[in-house]
Amino acid sequence: MTESTSLKQVQDMEAILETSKAMMSERDPDRLLNLIVQKATDVLEAERGSIFLADYDTQELWSRVAQAVEIAEIRFHWDKGIAGNVFQKSEIINIKDAYQDSRFNPEIDKKTGYHTRTILCGPLINHKNEVIGALQVLNKKDGVFNDYDESLLTAFSAQAAIAIENAQLYQELELTFKSFLKTMASAIDARDPTTAGHSERVARYSLSLAKAMGFNETEQKAIDYAALLHDIGKIGVRDNVLLKPGRLTPEEYEQMKNHVVKTKEILENMFFSRELREIPHIASSHHEKIDGSGYPTGLKGDNLSRAAKIMAIADVYDALVATDRPYKKAMTSEEALAILEQGKGTHFDQEIVDVFKNKKLYLIERRKSDRLDTNILMDYFITIDKKQISESAIIQATTVNLSTSGLVFSSKRPLAIGAILNTVLHIAGQDLKIQGKIIRSERILSHNTYNNAIEFIGLMPEQNKILAGLSETK
Ligand code: C2E
Ligand code: SIN
Ligand code: SIN
Ligand code: FE
Repeated sequence: MTESTSLKQVQDMEAILETSKAMMSERDPDRLLNLIVQKATDVLEAERGSIFLADYDTQELWSRVAQAVEIAEIRFHWDKGIAGNVFQKSEIINIKDAYQDSRFNPEIDKKTGYHTRTILCGPLINHKNEVIGALQVLNKKDGVFNDYDESLLTAFSAQAAIAIENAQLYQELELTFKSFLKTMASAIDARDPTTAGHSERVARYSLSLAKAMGFNETEQKAIDYAALLHDIGKIGVRDNVLLKPGRLTPEEYEQMKNHVVKTKEILENMFFSRELREIPHIASSHHEKIDGSGYPTGLKGDNLSRAAKIMAIADVYDALVATDRPYKKAMTSEEALAILEQGKGTHFDQEIVDVFKNKKLYLIERRKSDRLDTNILMDYFITIDKKQISESAIIQATTVNLSTSGLVFSSKRPLAIGAILNTVLHIAGQDLKIQGKIIRSERILSHNTYNNAIEFIGLMPEQNKILAGLSETK
């Protein structure tokens, strides 16, 4: 072995270790897969790369390919092609002349206009020694892939497989945790029939304010969770106070105010990862005012976190426009905004009130309920390669949001954000034809599915009534 080769080996190992660190901290599935492909391509001095992941439900391998306008997904049976061979045999395949190899399928080149010369493809193996997919690089920039490249790909793939599994696990935990928080939030709100949905709405207002104020992803998550749980301390407030139809006596009000102290105690007993440690503080500061006259601590402006200041606005706004409380009428949004305006500089942070008003962040949709008793079948139509394709999804009412403004469902393929979807909802014995605009399409790695949200457009009054009625019957 020459000196320059061994130097290159050290550099390659360093590159793999560096990449490994980056991969382990990347929790967004799409960004993780991109990172793996990009780094594998760099380390192996290849022109292109792709990653294929196994879908055990359909016995397919799938991969994302960038096309002219959107990201599309390719899927094929998991014993097809080079990747299928690698996946089945759990062995590296190194092809030095693609067009001379019978396993190579030239169809993809024909579609993309790319010319494949050399291919190196190896299995992705998890810690339980199961093959979860294949990692492939194309066209070595200089010559052909050699034995050394094979060992590099093996080392790289081992790290990549662990990172993919970590991301899957993390995503699953997070989904479980979030649905637990939502369940807690609706249980908190359910004690008082007039506050149904309050916590989720406060979370929506808070999150859109946090985004508008430039919070990073972790800060956004912290405020989202804190908002869902901000009133959890109300479980410590007795019914005769919490549910009182008339005005509170000063003593009763003191008991009521104690809910934020209780919120803090409860949340401090829950485990939050380091980056979410501020949650008990944020959640229990939603009744602080910036002039220091709030409770429980009377902290003043600069000592209050931006998150606490956001939640104060979100909480009061929703309390004001919420459906009639037994002791007062609901306000219009103009009236509620006027109260925020009056409280600028004393109760509320001026800048955040301005953002809330100017960006119209108070216009979140107001749904009656998130949960239904029945499953709903939805057919929808998408256009792929200019062909209309019909697909179905079962909307599982226990896990999914359906409201008069939209719904969430999962699909096997990614949907293009902004595209219009024609849907038929089979619901309450009727077929509702509704158009929806895709506003979200996120990959759920562990199930190889996408979680999509559509916003209904042009809902007819009759359809609106049916959807609203469904939520109310719960
Ligand atoms: P909530 O009804 O969810 O109200 C949250 C906060 O919104 C209130 O915190 C207050 O800052 C603001 N807010 C609510 N209604 C009005 C209003 O009509 N005008 C103005 N300017 N601000 C309003 P606060 O005052 O600390 O109250 C905390 C909680 O105590 C309330 O939560 C509610 O559950 C209860 N509460 C307050 N006053 C009464 C009352 O007179 N009768 C009853 N039964 N409960 C009350
Ligand atoms: C990519 O091609 O950007 C990532 C590969 C994949 O998602 O399969
Ligand atoms: C809905 O309103 O149910 C769909 C929109 C979303 O969940 O973001
Ligand atoms: Fe509160």
